[in-house]
Amino acid sequence: MFAHINHDFRMPTVFRFGVGAFATLAKEIETIGAKKVAIVSDKGLEKVGVVQRVVELIEPLSVPTVTYTNIAGEPTFQLLRDAVETLQAEKCDLIIGIGGGSALDVAKATAALCGKDDISSYLSGAKTIESRAVKCILLPTTSGTGSEVTLNAIFGDEEQQVKRGLVSPAFLPDAAIIDPELTISCPPRVTAASGVDAFTHAIESYIAIKSTPLTKVYSEKAMKLFTSNITRAVHNGNDLEARIGMSWVSSLAGVALANAGVGAVHALAYPLGGTFHIEHGVANALLMPFVFEVIGKTCTEEMIEVASFLQLGDYKSRPHQALKAVVAYMYQLLEDLDLPTSLSELGIDEGSLPMLAEQAAKIDRLLSNTPYKLNEQKILGIYQSAFKGREGN
Ligand SMILES: NC(=O)c1ccc[n+]([C@@H]2O[C@H](COP(=O)([O-])OP(=O)(O)OC[C@H]3O[C@@H](n4cnc5c(N)ncnc54)[C@H](O)[C@@H]3O)[C@@H](O)[C@H]2O)c1
Repeated sequence: MFAHINHDFRMPTVFRFGVGAFATLAKEIETIGAKKVAIVSDKGLEKVGVVQRVVELIEPLSVPTVTYTNIAGEPTFQLLRDAVETLQAEKCDLIIGIGGGSALDVAKATAALCGKDDISSYLSGAKTIESRAVKCILLPTTSGTGSEVTLNAIFGDEEQQVKRGLVSPAFLPDAAIIDPELTISCPPRVTAASGVDAFTHAIESYIAIKSTPLTKVYSEKAMKLFTSNITRAVHNGNDLEARIGMSWVSSLAGVALANAGVGAVHALAYPLGGTFHIEHGVANALLMPFVFEVIGKTCTEEMIEVASFLQLGDYKSRPHQALKAVVAYMYQLLEDLDLPTSLSELGIDEGSLPMLAEQAAKIDRLLSNTPYKLNEQKILGIYQSAFKGREGN
């Protein structure tokens, strides 16, 4: 148990959390001594005025600023190339990413790729990104992917119709600034989907083969805070306490993800994103109960613990009922948060399931971190159950 050697625990250089932390961005820019700043965000955040708020905050510093908000939907490698070309030409020495996982992933990967030759070999995964020449600050507006504290950046591969993650320590920003107030404007569906995404990070990292006693502390606290805050954050977006709670969930679960990795739920979710463009959080939320019904069988102890974190009861004297309780909780979440409950509801045709299973079975990085060995046949069975939904099984 916990025997593997690679226990290096990674965090961004600065981790700053608090209501009002957004305003400290100006000081951070001064500390870095940036000569030219790029703000990377998406169309939705531009519309709600978030990008303008950053521009106005930087204005008194008299530092030239460019904005890159060409992101609509979850990003592709093509978009990343465009962002790198554009911002490299601008010769920015600091990239500020503000947004959900989509904008943050583009911001951190762009910062790490600016100034590098032969971008394609990094994007294909043939070469690892070892260092970053451009400074980077990340501010999340969803709770969330935890992208501000992770070593991952996820992009759609349009040619192969899959989603693929790049992983590099250079993706950790110089500063992660988490201000829960930035999430107040987040609409209910995004709050629900990204919130359950964070929960998926917490529970998957908790049972992950690469988990350690240290990462489990983060996963545990994230699960405890999730259960007491998610419903309020989704159904009353102005509830600042709930937003603060969910911002912690996102960052704590993100640190756990960064250091223990995630597993099968994510492996099965990626092909749904790549082929059918289902939002990442929605795909994870929907698949989670169906995946855990299978993989949870190998982690009875952990399921007893998780049931306790989620306040589902004490299952020590009836260990084999713990998994059932956890899975029932996951199904109930979908209903309570108005999220889709079956793949058929998402308009996916049954004939595509073998192709999805074939793609998911190839994602060894995630499947090998899951304590239940899933093969293509078993993965297909999970997709089939998820297709019908809980009622249909
Ligand atoms: N890097 C990582 O470690 C990591 C982890 C998990 C997921 N991801 C990736 O992150 C992406 C998903 O990110 P996400 O779930 O945060 O959603 P997102 O970034 O795609 O945003 C979803 C929508 O919500 C809007 N939005 C975000 N914050 C808002 C706010 N405060 N107010 C109003 N609108 C707001 C955006 O404009 C967008 O239209 C996927 O591509 C996924 O693969 C990355």
